[in-house]
Amino acid sequence: MTKSIFITGTSSGLGRHTAIHFARRGWNVAATMRDPEQESQLVAHERIRLFKLDVTDPVQTRAAAHAAIDAFGGIDVVVNNAGVGSYGPLEFVEEATIDWQFAVNVRGPINVIRAFLPHFRERKGGRFINISSFMGVTTAVPTGSLYNMSKFALEGLIEGLYYELKPFNIDLHLVEPGGFKGNRFVEKVVFSTHPDISDYDPLIHKVNAMMTSGDESVRDDPQLIVDEIDALATGTSDRFRTLVGQTGKDLMRMRASMPIEDYLATIAANFA
Ligand SMILES: NC(=O)c1ccc[n+]([C@@H]2O[C@H](COP(=O)([O-])OP(=O)(O)OC[C@H]3O[C@@H](n4cnc5c(N)ncnc54)[C@H](OP(=O)(O)O)[C@@H]3O)[C@@H](O)[C@H]2O)c1
Repeated sequence: MTKSIFITGTSSGLGRHTAIHFARRGWNVAATMRDPEQESQLVAHERIRLFKLDVTDPVQTRAAAHAAIDAFGGIDVVVNNAGVGSYGPLEFVEEATIDWQFAVNVRGPINVIRAFLPHFRERKGGRFINISSFMGVTTAVPTGSLYNMSKFALEGLIEGLYYELKPFNIDLHLVEPGGFKGNRFVEKVVFSTHPDISDYDPLIHKVNAMMTSGDESVRDDPQLIVDEIDALATGTSDRFRTLVGQTGKDLMRMRASMPIEDYLATIAANFA
């Protein structure tokens, strides 16, 4: 029987790559996005149906979940992919930006998971694949504390949920990519600064230079991540956490090899 997948944030980047991949593999794809009216490419795929979804809105999330379940007769796999980044010194970040970081990256997956739990309980199974980041398991980029907070929170949410969903045969997974090509993440980052305070400027310039460097050689092919999502969706892999890409692996190896105080000092020294 044809399998069906529901994916958040398919207007660009990883979500879009994932939607196209599964459509080509013959899955039914519920590709969700905030502005489906703007989308012309994904609708050309016979297997893809578009659904309007801003993950911060629990009512719209339940409506999108019901519509996708009705359209395909059920959903087997849900990918919580939609995500945004707030960077810049914490003291300069607008209140609304702090809430936005949490609303999209944490409240969003909560809304989506809650919308699908009745369906998964009823059909005695289902799978949630959650796109975290290497920034969900370690810190590495100064002024990225809010993004770290959101992904660490997602990791805690999913790990904590494991125990109550296991009896229902509902699987949870975390995928932790490093930087990858073919996305709009950095251009959409809200980077907060202050017009009159320059104390953080040396740090801000270094972080900005790193984030906007055109060096694509240090970024992974998104297909690497899509292949891991595929392995989890099809049951080829049952890993709870999958760290993808060399950046995250190198950082985690370094973190495990030394006391946390030395790790923090080493990362800080890179930006001094
Ligand atoms: N880029 C990286 O190097 C990297 C590394 C590790 C992890 N990640 C994670 O990978 C995931 C995908 O990001 P990406 O790199 O592919 O970036 P992207 O190209 O910017 O894609 C992010 C997607 O999330 C959507 N989105 C934003 N706010 C939303 C909301 N309120 N409701 C629904 N959708 C919303 C965006 O839609 P709109 O077009 O409507 O804004 C877009 O479709 C994120 O969870 C990100 O944290 C990225």
